[in-house]
Amino acid sequence: MRTESPTLIRLEDYRPSDHLIDTVELDVRLHPRETRIVATLALRPNPDGRSDAPLLLDGDDLTLTRLSLDGEILDPAAYSATASALTVHEPPRQPFTLTIETRVDPTANTKLMGLYRSSGVYCTQCEADGFRRITYFLDRPDVMSVYTTRIEADADEAPVLLGNGNLTEAGPAGQGRHYAIWHDPHPKPAYLFALVGGRLDRVSRPFTTMEGRPASLAVYVEPGKSDRAAYALDAIARSMTWDEEAFGRAYDLDVFNVVAVSDFNMGAMENKGLNIFNDKYVLASPDTATDADYAAIERIIAHEYFHNWSGNRVTCRDWFQLCLKEGLTVFRDQEFSSDMRSRAVHRIGEVRTLRARQFPEDAGPLAHPVRPRAYAEINNFYTATVYEKGAEIVRMLRSLIGAAAFRAGMDRYFADNDGRAATVEDFLAAFSAETGRDLSDFARWYERPGTPVVSVEGDYDAAARTYCLRFRQRLAGAEDSPPLVIPIALGLVGEGGPIAAACERVGEGVFVLDRACDEIVFSGVDERPVPSLLRGFSAPVRIEMASSDADRLRLLARDTDSFNRWQAAQSVAMRLIVERTRADAPPAEDAGPDARAFVEALATFLDAEALSDPAFAALVLGLPSEGDVANEIGGDVDPDAIHRARRTLRRQIGQGLGRRLDSLHAAMTDATGVAFSPDAASAGRRALRNAALDLIAAADEVRGGELAATQFAEAATMTDRLAALSTLAAIPGEAREAALHAFGVRYADEPLVLDKWFALQAMIPEDGTISRVAALQGHPAFAITNPNRVRALLGTFAMANPTQFARPDGAGFRLMADAIRTIDGTNPQLAARLLTAFGSWKMLESGRRTQATVTLGEFASAGGLSRDVADILGRTLE
Ligand code: PHE
Ligand code: ZN
Repeated sequence: MRTESPTLIRLEDYRPSDHLIDTVELDVRLHPRETRIVATLALRPNPDGRSDAPLLLDGDDLTLTRLSLDGEILDPAAYSATASALTVHEPPRQPFTLTIETRVDPTANTKLMGLYRSSGVYCTQCEADGFRRITYFLDRPDVMSVYTTRIEADADEAPVLLGNGNLTEAGPAGQGRHYAIWHDPHPKPAYLFALVGGRLDRVSRPFTTMEGRPASLAVYVEPGKSDRAAYALDAIARSMTWDEEAFGRAYDLDVFNVVAVSDFNMGAMENKGLNIFNDKYVLASPDTATDADYAAIERIIAHEYFHNWSGNRVTCRDWFQLCLKEGLTVFRDQEFSSDMRSRAVHRIGEVRTLRARQFPEDAGPLAHPVRPRAYAEINNFYTATVYEKGAEIVRMLRSLIGAAAFRAGMDRYFADNDGRAATVEDFLAAFSAETGRDLSDFARWYERPGTPVVSVEGDYDAAARTYCLRFRQRLAGAEDSPPLVIPIALGLVGEGGPIAAACERVGEGVFVLDRACDEIVFSGVDERPVPSLLRGFSAPVRIEMASSDADRLRLLARDTDSFNRWQAAQSVAMRLIVERTRADAPPAEDAGPDARAFVEALATFLDAEALSDPAFAALVLGLPSEGDVANEIGGDVDPDAIHRARRTLRRQIGQGLGRRLDSLHAAMTDATGVAFSPDAASAGRRALRNAALDLIAAADEVRGGELAATQFAEAATMTDRLAALSTLAAIPGEAREAALHAFGVRYADEPLVLDKWFALQAMIPEDGTISRVAALQGHPAFAITNPNRVRALLGTFAMANPTQFARPDGAGFRLMADAIRTIDGTNPQLAARLLTAFGSWKMLESGRRTQATVTLGEFASAGGLSRDVADILGRTLE
């Protein structure tokens, strides 16, 4: 059944390139079907490489039309060229120039790697290995060159021509064509190359760096959409200022351009001076974007900009070091967002994402270390583990060495590695040098897959007035390996609030667990305390500790750490849902004694704090998702049982909170005429308003449905409109269909808004969703070639509708398998990513598990799969 196993690239096999390329001159003549690229490469043997090696350039789907060496056409016997490689058998032993002419068809490029067209706009995507689809090259990140790019195009078809670096020349090129020359003075690997040509509108603003360098910031969007680019443009300027203040990093070119395109495999790309974005993360207006969209735009703009230092000025030696730029840059964007918004609220969001995406990855067949040791297809390693867990490692490092040493270490890292292609070791070395600490134990975090479990026992001795905490760490599959270094932020909470008790092992509120077992003792403890463990989620682990709901609810009421207050409510809700999932008898209609205490605690909390911190209150009201519950249960999962249990608890909470929810819903409604603002405080009010609405409907479908219908009709923002529609979507009937229809008609010409509509329908937890999704694949706005449409409809179905994707009859699996097969024919990367939805199949109960194996087996045996899909499939079935 297994497709043949693909060749693996291994970290241990790394060796430096035999050749280097100092400068690259590109001459690109854009044409929809036949773009001609002339690349002039200044090559020389690498003193660190083998001296007699042939020159082996990477290619992918290329046609070579001409090749010369030092100006002379090369004898065909001196080289060999295929679509995927160009080999010069005996290259000169001194520096030489190679001029390569290739031809590519941007219109036929549906993989969205290399040079392609998106809604008529020429653009490129080169990370990880797309540059080799433009010209033959040493396409590896440790080969860094200075690029000069001449772009020529039909002036009418592509009035805007953009490249990396600074514009040095532009003008007419005859016969209705024109050209622009861009020069990037900073050496860079090929994956950071980019060019754009097309008809685009532009918004811009000036910026002066802390070094006094003037820079022009600009955002380019589809004609007519420039009024939706203001927020992104502002976010660029705020990111630049923040990186100067928080990390001392200034921008280093005359221009910083962001271009929004509508067909893009990922979120965005940090090409030097020319970031290319999925337009979903650029375009925003109150009528089309939710608060979550605004926050995502701000974060991703910042992320790509921050790469200018963490990724571009200091790049990666090889793709095994991907977390070096991605984990670090996610950490930096998280810090930025926390400073722009509410730190506590943001942290909860980060952890929710980590648990929803990274924990299951780490627990399933696709688990891998933050620094993988081998890969078949690098594009399959842009994962939650590399990004999100990678960021957690940086965060732990900071809490271990302290903020000041962390900043000094970062400065040193940037200074020592500027212009270099670095490794994780180089990163850690900067902090070791700064602190004098050996970080080799800590470095194990990069090598071990899986989520560690820390089990904790507490012991109060009233007579001695001591409280003892015993810790034990374990990591499945690493039982015989040395322990991890786990910073555990903690404190003790008494009936009246935090207890000031002494423990010498806890410095700055952090205990470092670096042994398999350890214990610490607090003295001067006058009452039985409740420990508040892993405050702020100080390490990406699971904590196991037997504790009562009463203790947890004390943390919700009394702890000073917002994260753990939220966590306390989540833990109680989780226990209630898991227990209801297991219960054989149908759950009682009233809250029951167990849920009643929880509901009362929520009520007390809301009365005291909802009005002062609505964003936080909204999070406290949010229950763990069905996916979270499945991960918690871990095996023999029945998604229907989880769905029912969670719905029951929501109803009980809604009924228990009763009129309180109506008051909150009303209190959080802006008076008419209040101008829209996407800021965190305003967004928090909307979040609480909509959390209340959802619980009202959970308690009483009729009343909630009516309230939602009114809100849907009167909404002044996309956030409120979509939240109302989402509440309605959970209530079968005519009102739902009418609202869905109205929304579809209203936004028929707004693909990004229709994505929300596709997603919402794909999430409906009902039998009919299968046919709904199948029908929507035929909707005029749906396009199987557009990654955003595919992710909205099919990605959401597979990743966010557990009862229907994992239907007992296997229909959900089959729907996805069929779609993935089709998509694999045009865009393997997108297909592979969708296939990761099957990554949790082993967790399901046996009937569904069998369905999954049958579907995946048929999928594999049909053959003809891309390397991307074959890689994911092989590992999923392992
Ligand atoms: N490097 C991009 C980022 O900022 C992600 C990306 C990877 C985009 C590969 C395109 C292709 O995270
Ligand atoms: Zn990134």
